[in-house]
Amino acid sequence: MTGFEQGTIFLEDGSVLQHELLPANQYRLRLRAPSIAASANPGTFTHVRCDESLAMRRPMSIMRVDAQQGWVELLYRKVGRGTHLLSKKTIGEVISLLGPIGNPFAVSNQVKRPLLLGGGVGVPPIIFLADRLRQRAGLSSLLVLAGSERPFPFSPQPSRSSIPGIPTDVIASMPLLDDWGVPNRLATLQGFAGCFHGYVADLAQIWLNSLQAQQRAEAAIFACGPVPMLQSVTMLAREYGVSCQVSLEEYMACAVGGCAGCTVAIDTDEGPAMKRVCVDGPVFEGDRVIWP
Ligand SMILES: Cc1cc2nc3c(=O)[nH]c(=O)nc-3n(C[C@H](O)[C@H](O)[C@H](O)COP(=O)(O)OP(=O)(O)OC[C@H]3O[C@@H](n4cnc5c(N)ncnc54)[C@H](O)[C@@H]3O)c2cc1C
Ligand code: FES
Repeated sequence: MTGFEQGTIFLEDGSVLQHELLPANQYRLRLRAPSIAASANPGTFTHVRCDESLAMRRPMSIMRVDAQQGWVELLYRKVGRGTHLLSKKTIGEVISLLGPIGNPFAVSNQVKRPLLLGGGVGVPPIIFLADRLRQRAGLSSLLVLAGSERPFPFSPQPSRSSIPGIPTDVIASMPLLDDWGVPNRLATLQGFAGCFHGYVADLAQIWLNSLQAQQRAEAAIFACGPVPMLQSVTMLAREYGVSCQVSLEEYMACAVGGCAGCTVAIDTDEGPAMKRVCVDGPVFEGDRVIWP
């Protein structure tokens, strides 16, 4: 159905190739990690030893890979001790990585109009998915919408092209995606220039409203971001009869299925059950999640 499969989890020493401070305490980290780069799929993550002094690793989504050059790229926000120590790592230093972990997004061949939604530091797996899908033949459209209430980790730029169904004054876009030719737009409540004023789910609704019923039947939503965003996106998808996959975050200890410390309530065919975000997820059908 998808071509994105879950496979071996590698323990790999990743040497830092690039480490860049971006706006709002966000960092882009590129590491040499050929085994993970060769087998990662959009939605999978790495469990990162941010520093030898920390007993626990920290989970980070994979944003980009280059299997030929053997690197993986992460985007993270400095929020606590782990990410603070990680932000000190310099080029050439080695960081232990466990990955790729988890079930990736599954995009069936019936999906001709994927709508990718990212919120805050939930954007990385969406960028990875956009990179994979732009190479897929037979799509009628591919659209990425990203929202943030902090400055974006890149300089938004006015897009060179319009997007059917998106208001014409909403022009702010992500340079990387524009360079790839992937239609995309940005949303915020902070009044950043050219962005949609509102939540990313509101902009998604405007786009869904613009579709004919037959076009809507070809659409599917893939989302990663804070829980309230994922919950409202799931409601939106239900309202419009569109399938929806969401990538969840939970506190993690082992990240390989052993400790059950990362469970969430999921509505399975056999009834409600606690599922591990690390290995049963992090991607779940939105409609199956029993929201807190
Ligand atoms: C599958 C997965 C993928 C993730 N991908 C990314 C990513 O691509 N980029 C990124 O910046 N962050 C990502 N996170 C969140 C990241 O793991 C946490 O921000 C990180 O562990 C914080 O570690 P710390 O020691 O710096 O902060 P801590 O001191 O542990 O926590 C600082 C703050 O972060 C919050 N926090 C900690 N862990 C989590 C978590 N798992 N989920 C939600 N909030 C948390 C705490 O509530 C606290 O407010 C991901 C989490 C998961 C589970
Ligand atoms: S973190 Fe241990 S089972 Fe998921």
